[in-house]
Amino acid sequence: MNIDTELQVFRDNIEAALNRWVPIDPKTPGGLTEAMRYSLFAGGKRIRPLMLLGAARINAQLLEPYPAAVAIECIHTYSLIHDDLPAMDDSKLRRGLPTNHVKFDEATAILAGDALLTLAFEVIAQAYCDSPGIAIALTQELGRAAGSAQLVGGQFRDLALEKGESEVSLQAINEIENAKTGALFVACLRMGLLTTEYAQSQWEVVTELGQTFGQAFQVIDDILDVVGDEATVGKSLRLDTHNNKATAVTEYGLEGAYKIADELTQKALDHCQALGEGASFLRYLIQKMRKRVN
Ligand code: IPE
Ligand code: IPE
Ligand code: MG
Ligand code: MG
Ligand code: MG
Repeated sequence: MNIDTELQVFRDNIEAALNRWVPIDPKTPGGLTEAMRYSLFAGGKRIRPLMLLGAARINAQLLEPYPAAVAIECIHTYSLIHDDLPAMDDSKLRRGLPTNHVKFDEATAILAGDALLTLAFEVIAQAYCDSPGIAIALTQELGRAAGSAQLVGGQFRDLALEKGESEVSLQAINEIENAKTGALFVACLRMGLLTTEYAQSQWEVVTELGQTFGQAFQVIDDILDVVGDEATVGKSLRLDTHNNKATAVTEYGLEGAYKIADELTQKALDHCQALGEGASFLRYLIQKMRKRVN
């Protein structure tokens, strides 16, 4: 199978798995199901589940990786719904559609996010219940990456910086971007490995790889906020400028930020080298994301 076909197969399978699991319980109120699925199926790139599948194909497979991929996309989508709320980035457009709180209302958006967040852990518990050791390890990875020291903590610090409540520095920006974005990339690679017969040395490599790729991905996100076209990117842009947010672009300038994105991309590709031929799909995704326009 060539790599573009593999990408399409992975994408189709991710959509099917999301459809199967969301919502997990048919007794979910109809309006809540609608709001959860509205953002989930609005057309995201699915880069996190794809990275997870990319890591899951490095070694011999022990367990089906798709439920873990569903869990990570549910967490990511919840984080976007809440990130867009008026109390946070106050954004009107996401994945080419009105944001969840604009389409429905704020309470519904908060609850749809809550439901996707909790669903992620239920999916893991249910799908991997016959392998409790792995279920616990997956839960721990996801909980830690999404939790108060990482994604949520990063969002908290991001807003504090924006409100002028903390000191802007390159170190602070890096730490925040690692926490709010990088941690989930580390988690998806580790979760992919957990579904395989992996070696401890690979665990260390994917950790470095996830951090580096996450940084590259967020720097490109910061660049797109400045140079992107809203219709193409599919989300409200210039919000970083409007919100006076310190980002890679404000600190290094546009040219500097492109250079950093290139350096980080190369570093991520070098990490892939250590994972051998099995990492070819990860390499392909990393290269594709450097050139992304949305
Ligand atoms: C956007 O993530 C938020 C960031 C962490 C930069 P994506 O760019 O992966 O958004 P979707 O999933 O494609 O909508
Ligand atoms: C959000 O970062 C990261 C998370 C949702 C955790 P941004 O605020 O830069 O993401 P966009 O630009 O709105 O997608
Ligand atoms: Mg934000
Ligand atoms: Mg935002
Ligand atoms: Mg952004």
